[in-house]
Amino acid sequence: MKYDTIITNGTIVNADRIRQADVAIRGEKIAAVGRDLAAKAAANGTRIINARGCYVIPGGVDVHVHLALPFCGTVSSDDYNTGTRAAARGGVTTLIDFAIPYGKETLQQAVDNWHAKSDGIACVDYSFHLCITKWAKQKKELPKMIDQGIPTFKQFMIYESQGWQSDDAAMYGALEALRDLGGMLMVHAESSRVLDELIARHHNPREMRKYGAYLHTITRPNFIEAEAIQRAVTWAKATRGKLYVVHMSTADGANIIEQAREHGYRNVFAETCAQYLVLDDSLFAGKDGHLYATCPQIKKPADQARLWRGLKNGTVCAVSTDTCTFTRKQKAMWKGDWTKIPMGMPGLETMLPVMYTHGVLQNRLSMKQFVDRCCRTPAKIMGLGHRKGAIQKGYDADIAVIHPTKKIKVDHRKMETNADWSPYQGWDLAGFARTTLSRGKVVVDNYKFCGKNGWGRFIPRRTPGRL
Ligand code: URP
Ligand code: ZN
Ligand code: ZN
Repeated sequence: MKYDTIITNGTIVNADRIRQADVAIRGEKIAAVGRDLAAKAAANGTRIINARGCYVIPGGVDVHVHLALPFCGTVSSDDYNTGTRAAARGGVTTLIDFAIPYGKETLQQAVDNWHAKSDGIACVDYSFHLCITKWAKQKKELPKMIDQGIPTFKQFMIYESQGWQSDDAAMYGALEALRDLGGMLMVHAESSRVLDELIARHHNPREMRKYGAYLHTITRPNFIEAEAIQRAVTWAKATRGKLYVVHMSTADGANIIEQAREHGYRNVFAETCAQYLVLDDSLFAGKDGHLYATCPQIKKPADQARLWRGLKNGTVCAVSTDTCTFTRKQKAMWKGDWTKIPMGMPGLETMLPVMYTHGVLQNRLSMKQFVDRCCRTPAKIMGLGHRKGAIQKGYDADIAVIHPTKKIKVDHRKMETNADWSPYQGWDLAGFARTTLSRGKVVVDNYKFCGKNGWGRFIPRRTPGRL
């Protein structure tokens, strides 16, 4: 049998099985998984990748990413080139960004804008969610968007000043409509009225001098997220629509999701992000604390512990990054006023290493659970389960080879991201991709990016919300 590439001698980890086997690739697809394929193959021209002593896992699927996003008065600094290079180096082979309509734009215009940003420069595969910012006008476009392979829509419960906020009627209507169309609603859940009130109460020179970036923590107590999640879950229960809570950061949120699912509402899902599992809000009090501002904010060690537990038992079904990179210069726009910090951080390059090192190596997740939460479940829940997130015959040959113990010290100067800082600077992390393949093409070799601009393709998706 003639194959283009064979990965041999590795330990293949899928979400449901670990086995010693070879992976044979023809063109862009996995052609076979089995014993001794390398030995049987006609070696002529077949590239052999020796993965002895390494795990061979499906490429990571990061379903929450923002590239070149106009936000907080600037544009996030990782675009479709640097963002997808960073993804590849971190072993992430598929990402999903959010197309957002600005002003009076339609959903179609937003999608067209996002295609224009990504066409010809992406190095790994990508897809889009769509943000609904004006429900009454945009609802008629939902079927057309689903036909274009975009079956997941997000509404923001905050960000009035960005022109992005949705109210409860819009959420209720979107859950109903998407239920009937076979789509899924995603929500950024934070309680806007009380959040705005707390920000107004603390927005004065004395407190800004005294607390600096720590005011993010002071103005975003856990109930800001919990109340909004509870409300969104109420509308999901009432409509029986599919709901996916993005970037859940609190123990309280995890409790609400767990309770809803235990009570039979299996259409309610939540992701968390790597940063909420390993960073806590004491960072805001330190030097450069403002760099860590994200929305929602990183929380307390007790929240981290609860989110890890939720991840382990599956209540929290997926890990993403909410990558939204800003440089030091962009972050410096805050000038001491925490409400002006561009919110977000880099994450694509470090998601798998953070989750492997702090999840698997610290016995919080099994190896299969790591693959499930970072690769398999995100692919399935977003309608990519037929071709991404598993090492299986017929699937896209999206693969990361990781060494079980070799640690690399994180240094933003040696990374592909456009960030000139890293939330994990100086951390020793295992789980960086020694080799990454994107649809059969080697895009990282010996820990170095070697891919090609334009290799990454837009991937249309199928029905979401199925595990
Ligand atoms: O701080 C963040 N997360 N920036 C991106 C926008 C969002 O709410 O996801
Ligand atoms: Zn958000
Ligand atoms: Zn986001």
